[in-house]
Amino acid sequence: MKNFTKVVYFVSVLDLLFSGCQTGNHRANGSYELIKSQLKLLAVNFKVAKTLTTRKDVVTIRSLNSDGTLNLIPSKDWCSGFYAGSLWYGSILTGDTELQKLAVEFTTPLEQEKLNGKTHDMGFKMMCSYGQGYHLTKDSVYRDILIQSAKTLTKRFNEKVGAFRSWDHSKDKWQFPVIIDNMMNLELLFWASRQTGDQQYYNIAVKHAETTLANHFRADNSSYHVIDYDSITGKVLQKTTHQGFSDSSAWARGQAWGLYGYTMCYRETGIVSFLYQAEKIAAFILNHPNLPADKIPYWDFDAPEASVRPRDVSAAAITASALLELAQFSPSKKDFYIKSAETILKSLNKDYLSKPGENKGFLLGHSTGSYPQHVEVDVPINYADYYYLEALVRQNNFNHLKK
Ligand code: GLY
Repeated sequence: MKNFTKVVYFVSVLDLLFSGCQTGNHRANGSYELIKSQLKLLAVNFKVAKTLTTRKDVVTIRSLNSDGTLNLIPSKDWCSGFYAGSLWYGSILTGDTELQKLAVEFTTPLEQEKLNGKTHDMGFKMMCSYGQGYHLTKDSVYRDILIQSAKTLTKRFNEKVGAFRSWDHSKDKWQFPVIIDNMMNLELLFWASRQTGDQQYYNIAVKHAETTLANHFRADNSSYHVIDYDSITGKVLQKTTHQGFSDSSAWARGQAWGLYGYTMCYRETGIVSFLYQAEKIAAFILNHPNLPADKIPYWDFDAPEASVRPRDVSAAAITASALLELAQFSPSKKDFYIKSAETILKSLNKDYLSKPGENKGFLLGHSTGSYPQHVEVDVPINYADYYYLEALVRQNNFNHLKK
């Protein structure tokens, strides 16, 4: 783990040097302390809740239930890697070694997922936990686990469709569903290709991105949530939603996954059609008439005006992180992307950040997991915290590069 000390030292020095450049108010109001204390509080609350539950398989936390209790989850849940990832990012931001210890503690129980071929969510689970851990520590055990995870994920690729199958559930509804979220799992394959020298990981990741580009997007560059394919002929059978307002609506988090996914695919491949798609998605999101002034979207861009129209803070956090990366690739739009990301982060810091001790230790409130299913509506969710912290890390690095 020796490299970790170097990374933390480097980032801490950057923090000291460039604290004056911070555009959000997170440093001014001392919220790096808040990040530390909230992340630790969540670990304490998890440990207490684990002693009170009869469920033996829970390894981490996902969100707050509507009664304010912690939603505990097993490693197979698609969200199992985010809290571990937040701890890794928290340790980078603050240099706190206790957070690093906790990161290891919450990463380790996910190992068995490396052989779980029943889900496309391998990237979410393993890159956010083991991937961040490997990035910092260069621990070869983490590397081996990640390579096995990538190998397992390849089994879900269908040559005829040219994509990875997303879900195995709801076989009565879809034959071969591919969701826009699946773009996020490709990063693991690009990483595995570089690590092993095996071009096949790269090829199938690119193919998935190309198939998604061909079929998921509408003329206005918003995306459908679910495309259902015929697994024998590869033809598109239907274009639908699962978590959006309607089949033809723009589900907020789906747009954010697309933006992040194509930005990452351009970083990994240099294929310009991926960059153009990311820019088009950014334009759709940032110029949308229904995007509130604070740039925290409602849960769906087409959700009707109503007395209750929840926001989705997670979509905003993912978007902020993606824009800070996209800004590096788009010189002519760089300022617009950075300003937009800064507006999002300022809004999150001002109106959505927990006060000390609030929300059992989650950092951000007001995310919406799945409005149509009445699941996790307007609550703290771990992936919002993860992408928020990633955006802060990227903002720090960006400010360093500017100098
Ligand atoms: N990947 C599932 C979601 O974004 O809710």
